[in-house]
Amino acid sequence: MKPTNKTVEYTLEASEFDWEIRPGKVIRAWGFNGMVPGPVLKAKQGDTLVVKVINNLPEATIVHWHGIRLPASMDGTGEVQKPIEPGETFEYRFTVPDAGTFWYHSHQNETEQMEKGMYGGIVVEAENDPVVDEDRILLIDDMKLAKNNTFKRHGAIGRWMERHDGREGDTLLMNGKEAMTLYMHAGQVERWRIVNAASARYFKLSLQGKPFKVIATDGGLLEAPRTETELLITPGERFDILVGPFDEWEVFHMETLPYNRVTFARPKKHKYATVHVMEKKPSNAFIPEGFTQIPLLAAQDAAVNRKVKMSVGPSLKRGIDFLVNGEMHCQDKPVMVGDLQVWEISNTSLMDHPFHLHGFFFQVLEENGKAPEYKAWKDTYNLKPKSKIKIAWMPDNRPGRWMYHCHILEHHAAGMMAHFEVVDPTAPVLPKQEKLHGCHASTSSL
Ligand code: C2O
Ligand code: CU
Repeated sequence: MKPTNKTVEYTLEASEFDWEIRPGKVIRAWGFNGMVPGPVLKAKQGDTLVVKVINNLPEATIVHWHGIRLPASMDGTGEVQKPIEPGETFEYRFTVPDAGTFWYHSHQNETEQMEKGMYGGIVVEAENDPVVDEDRILLIDDMKLAKNNTFKRHGAIGRWMERHDGREGDTLLMNGKEAMTLYMHAGQVERWRIVNAASARYFKLSLQGKPFKVIATDGGLLEAPRTETELLITPGERFDILVGPFDEWEVFHMETLPYNRVTFARPKKHKYATVHVMEKKPSNAFIPEGFTQIPLLAAQDAAVNRKVKMSVGPSLKRGIDFLVNGEMHCQDKPVMVGDLQVWEISNTSLMDHPFHLHGFFFQVLEENGKAPEYKAWKDTYNLKPKSKIKIAWMPDNRPGRWMYHCHILEHHAAGMMAHFEVVDPTAPVLPKQEKLHGCHASTSSL
């Protein structure tokens, strides 16, 4: 497949609608084009995506294109655009320079809008993609519903716990359906692109012990496939896996194993879907031993040029605060286009946080002093309690306002985020001085 550099157009209408998550269980969802998740947007590497977003919700929204290296003005955050008000339309336009699995989601009142279903997948195909018999995108989510299937609201204590743990519910959704069944043919190999679109749930994938091959992460293909039987996928992350070939009439579950991320709620095992293997069909799959070469941006011992600290602290007013460099909604220092960034990110708290950088891929150079097992492009990476990673990323020529944050939506909303500017030093006007110093207290929405 050769790059085509085509323009691919989509319209996404955000609205409120009834969504049946299993026969007879209907919720009042918010989403795109009347479905949860919204439609899968497809393009080939190098194409231009034009997405017209029409907002027919009762409140403003913004759409973020998680993982895509687009211009700052198209990033879909309150930093770079005015919210799309009810009745308004906004046209996003950007090329997709990388192949892989991405996703779009609301970036406005996220704890509510994403919980109600405002997200969808994006698949960008590559020239060197392995040939598979079937390619699917599977978006993992959960909802916390009350008995009458409305979105559960909490009293003060419940709210406090949800602020701490993030919102996890026991309605478990894959592609918007509870207890979903997936049919595949014996003898075939499928690519499953898995996106964790949940507010806070950690998804530790297991196919009841059956091995699968991990072939791609957030930023596309790995150098070579890796055989695993378990795989942790934290909110915001994507992993592509190859499954099969299986024998005829095998039946197994796709489940999440207990993962202790230090919450009030106790970790449990849950079943997400059932896979039924049907009659045997011939396979056209072709999986090379190696996919690509991932050049290292920096050596493991590269000097750190910025430290980012994620922490959780007590607060008189709010009970608990979620902080970056000691501040809520921190304003971080700018970075210059072309200056390699080597950041040490630490999590000094006693719980896990998935760190997400908008608009750029990074490489993990080390985690708690150790080099990672394999090279990968990431935009979201989980930090375990009391741990540290060193990452490298290159601010290419896409100046503007960017951000990074914890992808547990309640933590992000509670302040565990920072804005920063990517500055083109050759541009005639530098951004306003006030935006150029380090973290300081900023107004929060709480
Ligand atoms: Cu998927 Cu700012 O996030
Ligand atoms: Cu967090």
